[in-house]
Amino acid sequence: MSCFSSGVVSAAIIALGVLGAVAGGGTARAADAAAGKQVFQSQCAICHSDKKGQNKIGPSLFGVVGRHTGSEPGYDYSVANKNANLVWTPDVLDKYLDNPQKIVPGTKMPYAGLKNATKRANIIAFLETLK
Ligand code: HEC
Repeated sequence: MSCFSSGVVSAAIIALGVLGAVAGGGTARAADAAAGKQVFQSQCAICHSDKKGQNKIGPSLFGVVGRHTGSEPGYDYSVANKNANLVWTPDVLDKYLDNPQKIVPGTKMPYAGLKNATKRANIIAFLETLK
């Protein structure tokens, strides 16, 4: 019985911790580059490298924050991405990763979007370390 109840208590503590992480997710301070790296590995790395000059199915994302759309040397962009005329600021990246087709209509990036705002903030915090 005591074992059971302490399990309930620790489950409640874990739940509170998760709630706290979600509640804090909206602020820039809470963005966690280490957590973002893990999401990057599972969601983006199949198509994107985080290494300079390494283009895969998609362009290298080394130095992407602050770079102009369609400017990675040696990568064969779609006309849509090439001519999007945006700068990849954290704000533009956040909207793009939520719904790529909305920000760059006609992009050839086959990715439906990452709906979790905390995960997006964390990925962007990770991308900001790539310089
Ligand atoms: C299935 C493959 C695939 C996945 C998964 C994918 N991408 Fe892409 N991505 C692409 C392709 C292909 C392009 C080039 C789009 C074009 O030229 O229209 C691209 C383009 C981009 C660009 C524009 C870069 C530039 O230089 O203009 C960014 C930013 C980007 N992806 C970020 C991400 C992030 C972050 C993730 C993970 C959340 C991700 N992508 C997941 C294939 C993918």
